[in-house]
Amino acid sequence: MSQDSLFDKAALSYDEWYESELGQAVDQVERAGIDQAFTPSGSNILEVGCGTGNYTLTLAERGYTVTGLDVSAPMLAIAKDKADKAGYNVHWIEGDVSQVLPELGKYHGILSVTAFEFIPKPAEVLADLFTHLLPGGCLVIGIIAADSPWSELYRQAAAANPESVFAQANFYSEADIRGWKVGANPEISKALFFPPAVAGMKEAFEYEQMQKFAPGFLIAKWVK
Ligand SMILES: C[S@@+](CC[C@H](N)C(=O)[O-])C[C@H]1O[C@@H](n2cnc3c(N)ncnc32)[C@H](O)[C@@H]1O
Repeated sequence: MSQDSLFDKAALSYDEWYESELGQAVDQVERAGIDQAFTPSGSNILEVGCGTGNYTLTLAERGYTVTGLDVSAPMLAIAKDKADKAGYNVHWIEGDVSQVLPELGKYHGILSVTAFEFIPKPAEVLADLFTHLLPGGCLVIGIIAADSPWSELYRQAAAANPESVFAQANFYSEADIRGWKVGANPEISKALFFPPAVAGMKEAFEYEQMQKFAPGFLIAKWVK
């Protein structure tokens, strides 16, 4: 039987975020940034911390051969159910990325969205993942940025509730990422220039356009 993990209790309500107006605005700008950065050199993709499959299903829909890896059995069960219902054939690995590295294959692209905040020793794990890229392949992560209105919100959530998943999160800056020895120099892009307290979609996209606030989402890309 698998061990309990951090996101198990959050699994059933996790997708509710994407149904809220704010969640949809956030998802839209994060996806636009990820889509621009994630340019695999072929069809074989690994997604690390795939959660309930929000990106996994999009990748499968686009015709990629996808492996979704996650340490939380309940998160993975939801992802599997969604993929089965949509008729996608996804390969799943349940496990902690730092424990299953030797089992992984070689990929044209490796993607991870808002998972490396929760993974200890990110630089070491990313350096190892980089060795699982085929030549020309890319490793892309999207993470919540340190020193932003979003990391501040999550810090407050952690302070108010030590049981919150955010009590286990680490937030990194562009300088932190540039200091990680992964195997190549990273290309870093930024998104989420509106704060959590935005009035609605219209204001969110105006602020995004204006790059009004410190970016809440950093996207780092390493190419082999
Ligand atoms: C915030 S969720 C993001 C899920 C998905 N990527 C998305 O964007 O909706 C973080 C996910 O990372 C997973 N995760 C955290 N630490 C992990 C680890 N060491 N190995 C594998 N997955 C991990 C969690 O179980 C959770 O499903």
